[in-house]
Amino acid sequence: MTGLFITFEGPDGAGKTTQVEAFSRTLRQKGYDVLVTREPGGTPISDKIRALLLDPAHTEMAHATEVLLYAASRAQHVQQTVIPALKRGKIVICDRFVDASIAYQGYGLELPLETVVEINRFATAGLVPDRTYLLDIPVSRGRVRLGQRDGLDRIEQKGEHYHTRVRNGFLEIARQQPERVRLIDADRSIDEVHEEIVADFLAWQSANPIRRKGEIG
Ligand code: TMP
Repeated sequence: MTGLFITFEGPDGAGKTTQVEAFSRTLRQKGYDVLVTREPGGTPISDKIRALLLDPAHTEMAHATEVLLYAASRAQHVQQTVIPALKRGKIVICDRFVDASIAYQGYGLELPLETVVEINRFATAGLVPDRTYLLDIPVSRGRVRLGQRDGLDRIEQKGEHYHTRVRNGFLEIARQQPERVRLIDADRSIDEVHEEIVADFLAWQSANPIRRKGEIG
């Protein structure tokens, strides 16, 4: 596979979606062939699974159901969207991936981490991001930002203790995999965060070159 797989992660309210948009715009301006996608979602089947997962009415959802539905959405997305785009040499920028299941279902719901990892290894056929930007923000700050939106989804509605475990889970992933995961302080202006991500990507990419748009045969 010739493409690059870049993921964005972080607690709710870290500004991930804004940064994914800004980053993809900058890369396109620089001539890269970019596909932006997200999880849960990114295919028609995965979007239906997303609606099941995030419906605030589904308070009775069992933990096992939740982890398996995220993985099912991901399996379809990897097969139908991510791998074909990587094979065509694109830079695939994905808003959340397996790290989110480790943080939210593993650390957040306190499911055994090795089980979450194993289910996701099967779902993704072992696909691992080339680089991950972990946008970190204190839970209280993230919740202030979320409060500015209309209506919270089922996961966002969970309590402060849950979201603290999720944030600590993400920080633990970054600590364990520093070569892949770049920790970014997201409690700053949109522009400051964006500039740090772009600078890191260009430095990292020059050490790991791929072909640019126009050079792809
Ligand atoms: P989003 O807000 O990034 O669109 O993600 C939707 C919610 O789903 C968010 O609260 C995080 C949660 N989530 C998980 O709990 N596990 C996962 O594997 C993924 C991808 C998202």
